[in-house]
Amino acid sequence: MSGSTEELRRDFEQDLAQIENLDAWKRIRDRWLARESGIITGQMKRLRELPKEERPAFGQSMNLLREFVEDRLGTTRAVMEREALEKSRRHIDVTRPGFPYALGTLHPITRLRQEIELIFVSLGFTVFDLPEVEQDYYNFEALNMPKNHPARDAQDTFYFDENLLLRTHCSSVQVHAMQSMKPPIRAVSTGKVYRRDPFDATHSPMFHQVDVLVVDEGITMGDLKGMLEVFLKRVFHPDIRMRLRPGFFPFVEPGAEVDISCIFCFGAGCRICKESGWIEILGAGMVHPKVLRMSGVDDTRYSGFAWGMGIDRVAILKHGVDDIRLFFENDVRFLKQF
Ligand code: DAH
Repeated sequence: MSGSTEELRRDFEQDLAQIENLDAWKRIRDRWLARESGIITGQMKRLRELPKEERPAFGQSMNLLREFVEDRLGTTRAVMEREALEKSRRHIDVTRPGFPYALGTLHPITRLRQEIELIFVSLGFTVFDLPEVEQDYYNFEALNMPKNHPARDAQDTFYFDENLLLRTHCSSVQVHAMQSMKPPIRAVSTGKVYRRDPFDATHSPMFHQVDVLVVDEGITMGDLKGMLEVFLKRVFHPDIRMRLRPGFFPFVEPGAEVDISCIFCFGAGCRICKESGWIEILGAGMVHPKVLRMSGVDDTRYSGFAWGMGIDRVAILKHGVDDIRLFFENDVRFLKQF
């Protein structure tokens, strides 16, 4: 009898060696262990046909065989499952950032731009989103800077051809706004501007500006001052002070340079404000009558003010950053801090 158990064991091992997948495994399991038709059940049925004295030994060897079969099938299945898992793991990208995924945020300059636009929207301004590729006419000519005007030198320009250029400031919004709206006009534009400047700690050939225009009957320098004060206190700090100094820009008359009290020393004098207590922040003025006329506004009836400011400069001051390049190199270690 033990001989036949040995044979069965060898048969089973041959079956086992052929298992390649789960279907084959199930087939072999049923072949050997199925309750009704399995080989082991079949052998057990033979028990009754045997002489009484042989039955215990046969029964025992069959039980051992069943345990052996169950044990080997169990091991084979476990090995197969581990192999399948390892195979699927090969498709897992272990360099992928883990869950939960880090959410990106808007660039600090974009956020500041949106903050500034929102202030103007809340004041009833129309936002002009203008192209960065601009015509010479809107960037210079209509702003009282005809060809060969010396003021053009201050804004060293990237030209595509004689007529097309990368805008050097957002002041072209003034002309577009006056051409497309009738007074009262309240217009604002923010965005990228370009100049042939070096790329160093304080310069960048691309930076951001906001430019503002108000045209109506009876607009005065007082309106300009009042609005600037509201704006600068909202952007910087409610306690900052502001002063206007005479300044020249061809498209305004009179023109002014605007300073705020130093936000680092509150006017006491420090390294940032070069001990003066003041920081120059923007250019402003009353819209030149010539500019009004060129844009089709009756300068005998209407007057206006305009001002323009560098957004990156505001970000640098607000966040105490000492190198403008940090905003454009887009090192996430820097950007993450905002
Ligand atoms: N566009 C000027 C610049 O880029 C800044 C400026 C000065 C804008 C006076 C204005 C203004 O609207 O009235 O340097």
